Amino acid sequence: MASTLSIFTHALLLVAALGREDGLARTPPMGFSTWYAFGANLNETRVIQMADAIVGTGLRDVGYRYVNLDDAWLSPSRDRQGNIQGDLTRFPSGMKWLADEMHSRGLLLGLYGCPGVRTCEGYPGQFEHEFQDAATIAAWGVDFWKADNCWQKWAVVDTYTPELSNGSYPSTEPAVRQFLHEREFGLNVRGLSVSGEDAAPIEWEGASGLPPFLPDTCPPEGGRQMGNPTGHQIQQWEAYRLFGEALQATGRNITYSICPYIAGCDASVFGYYKSYSHMSMNQCPQVDNTDTWESFIFHLDANNYVPSRAVALARAAAAGPGYWNDLDMLMIGYKLLKAWEPRQTLAEYRSQYSLFAVLAAPLIFSADIRGTEAFNAWTNDTASVLMNKAVIAVSQDPLGQQGVLVANLTADVELYRRALADGGLALAVLNRAAAPLGTPLNVSWAQAGVPAGWAVAGVSALWPGTAMPYTEEGFVVEALDTHDTALVRVALTRVP
Ligand code: GLA
Repeated sequence: MASTLSIFTHALLLVAALGREDGLARTPPMGFSTWYAFGANLNETRVIQMADAIVGTGLRDVGYRYVNLDDAWLSPSRDRQGNIQGDLTRFPSGMKWLADEMHSRGLLLGLYGCPGVRTCEGYPGQFEHEFQDAATIAAWGVDFWKADNCWQKWAVVDTYTPELSNGSYPSTEPAVRQFLHEREFGLNVRGLSVSGEDAAPIEWEGASGLPPFLPDTCPPEGGRQMGNPTGHQIQQWEAYRLFGEALQATGRNITYSICPYIAGCDASVFGYYKSYSHMSMNQCPQVDNTDTWESFIFHLDANNYVPSRAVALARAAAAGPGYWNDLDMLMIGYKLLKAWEPRQTLAEYRSQYSLFAVLAAPLIFSADIRGTEAFNAWTNDTASVLMNKAVIAVSQDPLGQQGVLVANLTADVELYRRALADGGLALAVLNRAAAPLGTPLNVSWAQAGVPAGWAVAGVSALWPGTAMPYTEEGFVVEALDTHDTALVRVALTRVP
């Protein structure tokens, strides 16, 4: 067992070193995901049409380069050598051909899987095929991999409330049980709360205490959702790590996205995620984004407060070039051609985009923009949001500092701040109220955190038509619609 520990420790150090130096995701990844646009109704014609639309609308040229196939691209069965393969009917030209098609357009190809036994839609997962599958996707020329969180039963047992997991995770999946009982990563679960029939008899006899990323205890505000890590959670973290290691072993540059969902209660867990992935969804309970204001606010609040304010701030501090906190897909334009369905207003889309930019979250949209009708709706509406270059510049700022909530200006208005590479600031003023601002709102430079020794040299409003007068004391938001955001860029100079 001592040797298992030693292998584990060396592997950890190795991935920690590689993960930070691979040059990938130096700014939050930007692109498109098929999930909301097409769901499981995926085929190569649609993907090619979408790629052409991304080029034709100019989205590629403002930074959206990843074309990520989400769930349901796989064949339900592996080939005779046990390799994963694209669905033979829906992707008859094969995945290498598709990667080549993307590259010839100046785009990048992303694919999707699960480190467990199956994907969420029931296709083969990477469990016990990690290195083989990584080699396959590298040989195809894939550039991005999203590892999702289904069929990792051990991750659910002690952490998700039944109403969220919806009872859809079977408790007797044989392969999962085998994984729990037979696979050894040399981890210590002694002293952590593993209970009931799922208590995995994993032994670890190392003498030096817990691995560095595992906390001994959680603060009381951690709560049930994000409580003490259990053997199941540890196994889940390790499953993501193992596939990250397999990707790195291929030698190909593949941006790696994970969804461990669980924050853990010790900030050092983020350093661990960061050692082997480039973006991680770990601030939110397991609820996907939808095209509603409530969904956006739910995820924003989770980002700000789950499992506690202190851990949320530590999670933000962990982000930087090479690793980002994922807020799930952008919902902007998702219901583009479905006028009969409720969707968010343009003001709400502006808020979503402003906050994703200030919070340095990956910008992955999922709207179907193929065809003339969609293109017209797109250019007249959501393109004005997703293609705002001044906001994209905030998102892609090379300093890579994730912004945070810094003040509640009123009961309904929040102020977020992100420091920028040129020494300036991006400030977002979010009106959460169901009514427009009643009176103009003053935001002082002290509230905005202008550092001592610096003076304001200019203020520009990043959404057209929202001029922002300013004085020596601060700036004024003169009007703000319900659920809208004023986003400003403040230039600062040193006071001589
Ligand atoms: C989960 C994820 C989604 C999507 C689907 C695919 O729900 O959270 O983003 O990947 O699975 O099945």
